[in-house]
Amino acid sequence: MTKIASVFGRRVWESRGNPTVEVDVVLESGARGRAIAPAGASRGKREAVDLRDGGKVLRGKGVAQALANVNGPIASALLGQDVVDQAGIDGILTGLDPSKLKETLGGNATVATSLAVLHAAAADAGQQLWRLVADRYDRMARLPLPEIQIFGGGAHAGRRVDIQDFMIMVPGAASFDEVMEVTNEVYFAAGDIMASRGNLAGVADEGGWWPMFRSNEEALESLVAAIEKAGEKPGDRVVISLDIAASEFAENGVYSLALEDRRMESDTLIGLLGSWLDTYPIVSIEDPLAEDDREGMIEFTRRFGDRVQIIGDDYLVTDAGLVREAASDKACNAALIKVNQAGTVSEAIEALTAAQAAGWTTIVSARSGETEDTSISHLSVGLGNGQLKVGSFQRSERMAKWNECLRIQDELGPDSFVGGAPLARTWWAAAQR
Ligand code: PGA
Ligand code: ZN
Repeated sequence: MTKIASVFGRRVWESRGNPTVEVDVVLESGARGRAIAPAGASRGKREAVDLRDGGKVLRGKGVAQALANVNGPIASALLGQDVVDQAGIDGILTGLDPSKLKETLGGNATVATSLAVLHAAAADAGQQLWRLVADRYDRMARLPLPEIQIFGGGAHAGRRVDIQDFMIMVPGAASFDEVMEVTNEVYFAAGDIMASRGNLAGVADEGGWWPMFRSNEEALESLVAAIEKAGEKPGDRVVISLDIAASEFAENGVYSLALEDRRMESDTLIGLLGSWLDTYPIVSIEDPLAEDDREGMIEFTRRFGDRVQIIGDDYLVTDAGLVREAASDKACNAALIKVNQAGTVSEAIEALTAAQAAGWTTIVSARSGETEDTSISHLSVGLGNGQLKVGSFQRSERMAKWNECLRIQDELGPDSFVGGAPLARTWWAAAQR
């Protein structure tokens, strides 16, 4: 009865108004699973391809070809397959598309299918998705510590500032609810500060305030001011997390901070980021150097890896092989996990497991183009991975993920919140100094 009776892909629309792929999987038992592919804007070169039709219609972003792949070869290959075997089904998907980056089927087609299969298995078992994941992968379900964006930037804000995400974390909170409360206070305090300076200009793609700043560092200063205005002592209960997304402003080994009209090499950028680490209560930094700047990532981790979480996103693209390579290089100490970068649930979990085997922390993450799909909240809880990054604290495609964690909290109990525990003691202690 847990065999697949039908697979159907349809076009739906994501938070930026672009088309994307939704897949319904129905089992012989009648149980159904549904998932939607998210879409990134600052995509890594080595991540699974988001298959788009090109041309003039829908600004080239049509997904007709990806849907044809779901409703054609994918549906044919999956009919009669048993959803109890996620790895087997994901193996069929990767077997259908042996290209390295899933350019034949499209990562958008495979990820929506793979996640819909997982949802169908949970529905058939009458289980919440997080619980099925915890049971199946033998993990302790826990509510993650969120990373929440306050100012958006980079590719999510027309490159108004160079740095992409200015976020807070609340590792000092006693519960997930407390994180939400503190975030509400900081988020609106930041909006008030922008308004009082005449800089309030709406929100960026992930719901963070639009970054009307004269320099990248002004965003950091404003974030500290917002934390203070919210009645918090920066570095105490609330700390800062940055996604530099440096690949976005790097070319041929030169980093261009357009807002400040500055061009620099890897070493200078490392020095600049280091000076921010000395000045602001930053405990986590993502993609500090570009995806092809291996030497830079190694040097950055050598200098700062004992005091901050250094996350590879574009640098690792949720690929177990790249995670292992970076671990042996000592080029990061944490991995961002985006299921659609890998293209299937099993490959994403393999990357997460490889990161944990290296002693790294892991952060399950949304994309900048999102929907009402809350699969990542369930994956983060079910895998007990410790951290979740979803964007900001506004707009329903973001709030849907935080709210889903609150519903899960009602089943798991408030004690299931991981708090600051997964943060490596070294850098948390350093941030306290
Ligand atoms: P995205 O970027 O626009 O590719 O989703 C998000 C991130 O860099 O973490
Ligand atoms: Zn990133």
